[in-house]
Amino acid sequence: MQNFDYQTPTRLIFGKGVVEQLPAVMAQFGKKVLLTYGGGSIKKIGLYQKVLKLLKDFEIVELSGIQPNPKYDPSVLEGVRLCKEHKVDVILSVGGGSVLDCSKAIATGACYDGDPWDLISYKVKAQAALPIVDILTLAATGSEYDCGGVISRTETNDKIGYIDEHLFPVVSFLDPTYTFSVSRKQTAAGIADAMNHTMEQYFVEDATLLNDGFCESMLRSLMENGRKCLENPEDYTARAEMMLACTYGCNGILALGNSESGWPCHGIEHALSAYYDITHGEGLAIITPRWMQHILSERTLPRFVKYGINVFGIDPSLGKWEIARKAIDETYRFFESIGIPMHLREVGIDDSRIDEMAHHIAVNEGLENAYVPLDEVAIKEILVASL
Ligand code: NZQ
Ligand code: ZN
Repeated sequence: MQNFDYQTPTRLIFGKGVVEQLPAVMAQFGKKVLLTYGGGSIKKIGLYQKVLKLLKDFEIVELSGIQPNPKYDPSVLEGVRLCKEHKVDVILSVGGGSVLDCSKAIATGACYDGDPWDLISYKVKAQAALPIVDILTLAATGSEYDCGGVISRTETNDKIGYIDEHLFPVVSFLDPTYTFSVSRKQTAAGIADAMNHTMEQYFVEDATLLNDGFCESMLRSLMENGRKCLENPEDYTARAEMMLACTYGCNGILALGNSESGWPCHGIEHALSAYYDITHGEGLAIITPRWMQHILSERTLPRFVKYGINVFGIDPSLGKWEIARKAIDETYRFFESIGIPMHLREVGIDDSRIDEMAHHIAVNEGLENAYVPLDEVAIKEILVASL
């Protein structure tokens, strides 16, 4: 087992009706609030109106229109400007992972005198951040329980995973009923995202029996509850378990003591959504089985056999290679069965920029250090196989 140093300071407040506690929680951090949200889903479900009512004694400044794959310009820059101009005390993020990631970049940018991109691009280490409280409305990223934020800069085709200990939310409100309205497309993408977070931590050289069990249980839970959420979007029990499973995805708890994985599918997918602005979970679902095919070898075979038997219930008496191939096939078929388009062409990506993207990924994502190292040629092969 590898050494580790681990802390997750975020307070999770989970369940039906927990948002009623918002005023008491917010009061701990100040009176001036930057309320951040996306394109309007929170108004459709009445959450925006509820938040304003609950926070009637607070001074609210709003930043709306944060897009999926949140953009540095204008959203992060505008948020930082508002925080500085109004001397905001605390950020309240209401929405999915994109709103929260954008809020995280705003939180450190607001405490920095220079260009916030210096922080996101790791030129300068953040020294402080405004506190972030969130009300999550979409189960997927795990941003509510981690210290990462993913920010896109359109003009340079960059989508950077910005990780810093200042980015942990101080409090995350998780009420599964606010996810009832999430569309089929986004629900399926959320399932795929959280499943891939788990796989990124499962396929490593050195893993413990303990972590393998967590990961296998996560995957089975996400598939079973994910299906139920799609069949009946208002199934509270299924939405709740899916929400909690997604929350565990990215804060490292599934991989304590394991060796590094390099998160290769994320490295590849971030370029796809940087270049083509596609939905993150869909990109991951397309890449994952092709990446699996690529890395299957004598060395990785035992991991695939374990995965196939414990996650998909494949007959252990079959040959090892047969189990591994079936496991990859089951992975593909599960994503297909929940309605995810399984080819890049179906999400508007053709072969015209494959070389450019493979180069960009090889230079920027450090995948030469992944569980199975990927160079530019390997990345291109995976992208071509995904077309
Ligand atoms: O903008 P609004 O109107 O709110 O609509 C959103 C958006 O169109 C909608 N939505 C959210 N909650 C809803 C809802 N629609 C109906 N009812 C609700 N309750 O869903 C759409 C997608 O929202 P978005 O926030 O983009 O989705 P998600 O939570 O999947 O976030 C994706 C972003 O997170 C990054 C991804 O790269 C992507 O940019 N990631 C962040 C991570 C992290 N911080 O740890 C890790 C992940 O691996 C991921 O990379
Ligand atoms: Zn992800």
